[in-house]
Amino acid sequence: MLVNGIEMLQKAKAGHYAVGQFNINNLEWTKAVLLTAEELKAPVILGVSEGAGKYMGGFSTVQAMVAAMDKELKISVPVCTHLDHGTYEGAYKCIKAGFTSIMFDGSHYAIDENIAKTKELTNAAHHLGMSIEAEVGGIGGTEDGVTSNGELADPEECKKIADLGVDMLAAGIGNIHGKYPADWKGLNFDVLAKVQEKTGLMPLVLHGGSGIPDEMIKKAITLGVSKINVNTECQLSFAAATRKYIEAGKDLEGKGFDPRKLLAPGFEAIRQTVRDKINLFGSAGKA
Ligand code: 13P
Repeated sequence: MLVNGIEMLQKAKAGHYAVGQFNINNLEWTKAVLLTAEELKAPVILGVSEGAGKYMGGFSTVQAMVAAMDKELKISVPVCTHLDHGTYEGAYKCIKAGFTSIMFDGSHYAIDENIAKTKELTNAAHHLGMSIEAEVGGIGGTEDGVTSNGELADPEECKKIADLGVDMLAAGIGNIHGKYPADWKGLNFDVLAKVQEKTGLMPLVLHGGSGIPDEMIKKAITLGVSKINVNTECQLSFAAATRKYIEAGKDLEGKGFDPRKLLAPGFEAIRQTVRDKINLFGSAGKA
């Protein structure tokens, strides 16, 4: 069932769990995430970066694929199609393509410009019944070619953006996209606590969800994180399972080269990663 992210995230905030955002890359990814969310009766968000949208043939293609798959596979849990780290132009493209939710990442602009653009896009999204995520501070590392040094969010700025009426807020708290370096200092819970204090009932978003120790994830949820984004861990598990299949020479046995066979171990590996994360985030059975 395609919906915006508003109700699922408000329920998560009130119920002290987090909804998983799993970034999708192709049809297999989409099917793996949808079937696993349905299996666990969990609400779910499909994240689509601008690069992944382009790769899959454009945002309209993605939206049409998800909508058709949702219907054909009889997915009953709430599913949200969400632009990840959108630019101003990308956000409008997703609005036009019929996504149910967008993220506008204006964190690299000066705060006044971030506020002005976020405000305009919030009005545009809400007018069409879509939800919107905004960002303050930077998420470190590189996500689909977008690099940031990872700036800690200023809680006062978070309040200003939250007061615009956005539906979810991503705040930089030392989190990083991609693999965490060995000398990573961990999440900054002092900043997270201050952001939560200033923004009240606003569902907070934790980007860079791959590779964060379980205990830190659980603590972040107690401090108001209601949405957690995972991309790299699904990619790593897909790649490892595919490598194992090929290195075992399975693609050379019989019809093992058939893409339905070749991609099956990777598909199952994505499902297991999504299953583990949904259980960790506490969103199983919350649909
Ligand atoms: P990871 O790739 O580190 O899981 O981050 C995903 C993310 O935050 C998408 O916005």
